[in-house]
Amino acid sequence: MSGPNDPYDPKEVSALSDDELAAAVTQGEAAFAAATDLDTLAEAHTTHLGPRSSVALARRELGALPPQARADAGRRVNAALAALTASYDARRSALEIERDERVLVEEAVDVTLPWDRAPVGGRHPLTLIQERVADVFVGMGWEIAEGPEVEASWFNFDALNIPPAHPARETQDTLWIEPADNGVLLRTQTSPVQIRALLARGAPCYVAVPGRVYRQEALDATHSAVFHQLEGLAVDEGLTMGDLRGTLDTLARAMFGPQVRTRLRPDHYPFTEPSADVDLLCWVCQGTSTEPGAEFCRTCRSEGWIEWGGSGMVHPVVLASAGIDPERYTGFAFGMGLERTLMSRHDMSDIRDLVEGDVRVTAALGREG
Ligand code: DAH
Repeated sequence: MSGPNDPYDPKEVSALSDDELAAAVTQGEAAFAAATDLDTLAEAHTTHLGPRSSVALARRELGALPPQARADAGRRVNAALAALTASYDARRSALEIERDERVLVEEAVDVTLPWDRAPVGGRHPLTLIQERVADVFVGMGWEIAEGPEVEASWFNFDALNIPPAHPARETQDTLWIEPADNGVLLRTQTSPVQIRALLARGAPCYVAVPGRVYRQEALDATHSAVFHQLEGLAVDEGLTMGDLRGTLDTLARAMFGPQVRTRLRPDHYPFTEPSADVDLLCWVCQGTSTEPGAEFCRTCRSEGWIEWGGSGMVHPVVLASAGIDPERYTGFAFGMGLERTLMSRHDMSDIRDLVEGDVRVTAALGREG
């Protein structure tokens, strides 16, 4: 005969035994305490509180117990779970506080440190002056025009009334593209864009042309084989030398300030008639160094005036080359070197400072504006 069934003793289910539960709690608490960062703590959580942990296993066993045993076992499992959870929560908040303190120290920004000592570069002064010039002319309703740097000699010379025997054509000035008898060159001036602008737009025409030009020159304090010019051309009915003068004065004031004084001095250019050079009154001596007994002025070499560029009324032959009726239209034109303009403006004596790209020059001139 078999005796009555023993009442089910939950302590005999090993996962639910006091010892096992106590061991699970001890091991879990030890692992949480040993975790020195949040990642390790998360791993320990998976091991000791995750779905495959001893307590989770014990919890699942509860369902198989007879009701009379379940309450007691449930209390003990829950107590173990609560102990582990409390230990985990405490460790996690401790580690979080530690992490926050560390981040505050490691990622601290000292707002009292100087912020302006790191050298910053700048856009090149030649780029800036070209934009400034463009602003001046666009403000007067002119257009900005461009032309190719590799140019046909017809545009660079013939159409501008520069005859084949003119010294400007000689090979020491002009850089020809091989083969040399093809008549293709690196433009020696921005003036060919006068012809291109007139052919493209017809009259009336108001264009300013900042651009790069090339000449066969060795680099020294005042010469560079590559430099920049600003060309201006206005063609309309009834334009006079007075319009030229007013335009040059507006440009000069924008470049050098309101106090600048200009003068036109007769000269000769094949593409203008009459032609005149544009001079600026020396801003250092105000022209006084030309007086007898006056101190020598380094800036104008005691000439009183500084040459800035060339100008004149567009030659009728040039208008005709571009298909414009010289009986109906007149025009004025001017051209000046932008390096020379910058050097005057900033009292610089060596063009190489503009060519070599020293960031200190760029930064200093950029600040002066
Ligand atoms: N193209 C001339 C040069 O490179 C400068 C110049 C002079 C341009 C007179 C002009 C002008 O438009 O009218 O030396």
